[in-house]
Amino acid sequence: MARVALAPLILLAGGCAWDGPMSSITSASDFSRAILHVYAIITWATAIIGLIVFVALAYILVRFRARPDAPPPSQVRGHTLLELGWTIGPALVLLMIAIPTIQVIFRTETTAAPQGALQVTVRGWQWWWEFRYPDLGVVTANELHLPVGRTVVLHLEGPDVIHSFWVPHLGGKRDVVPGRNNRIVLTPDRAGEHWGQCAEFCGASHANMGMRVITEPAAEFDAWVTRQKADPVEPSGLAADGKAVFAKSACVGCHTIAGVSAGGLGPNLSHFGGRATLAAGMWPNTPDNVAAWVRDPQRLKPGAKMPELGLTEDQAKALAAYLTGLK
Ligand code: CUA
Repeated sequence: MARVALAPLILLAGGCAWDGPMSSITSASDFSRAILHVYAIITWATAIIGLIVFVALAYILVRFRARPDAPPPSQVRGHTLLELGWTIGPALVLLMIAIPTIQVIFRTETTAAPQGALQVTVRGWQWWWEFRYPDLGVVTANELHLPVGRTVVLHLEGPDVIHSFWVPHLGGKRDVVPGRNNRIVLTPDRAGEHWGQCAEFCGASHANMGMRVITEPAAEFDAWVTRQKADPVEPSGLAADGKAVFAKSACVGCHTIAGVSAGGLGPNLSHFGGRATLAAGMWPNTPDNVAAWVRDPQRLKPGAKMPELGLTEDQAKALAAYLTGLK
């Protein structure tokens, strides 16, 4: 019985990992650090106020409890000092919270970025993320790489509906609105893997619109850029069959693979095999998962814009071998 009662508690506590990949109380940038600073002030202020209130309440409950032959307590009405006290006190508390909050809102809303900041265009599509590095000539999807210590300007663009870019380790949510140039300026300050999620309901697969951000030392970031710019290696064996399947199926209409196809509606697949996850963070990027995905995207990701391709199991396996080989 006790074990049954404990089970939900354990499940609940399991969500409390301090430094989980989507924890909003772990920081990996100046933006999230500024938010955590305000969060700490509010948490401490409310904890101290709560403590004072509960201690006073406990004391009053015991000290002034009803006794059998006690006379009625004295009644207080229109006490100017009390009235002033409980008006000014909360006003001071609100002021104490408002000043750092407003400071941080203005600081994190600023669009000024230093010379040499990395420029990244973020496009929220139904239901995946596109990341373009115009100065580096790199286009990728669902996995954003950023160098530690360099300021980045994320230009948020919405080609279809409203989404919201949210990577808790890196900072607060910001809406991705068609026709509006929203920006986030931040500097990652430690290496790591950070998970993100679309935070604005955007249709059937809103919940399946995840992303990963990899913050890494500058040298590793440069090596990643070099890999992204390299031409895909020519496949052989099963992967070569997969390339043929790709070239004569509907894939080419939507996906770009450098030197093979140029479609602008789906994720760029030139270096698909170098990403750790598939379909906007839904599964690990393994040949088996890719084969299952290309055979039945509509069942695996409701509403996905990728149509049923009518591939046989062998074709799907070959295609998966080709795609996962594109490092
Ligand atoms: Cu995109 Cu929710």
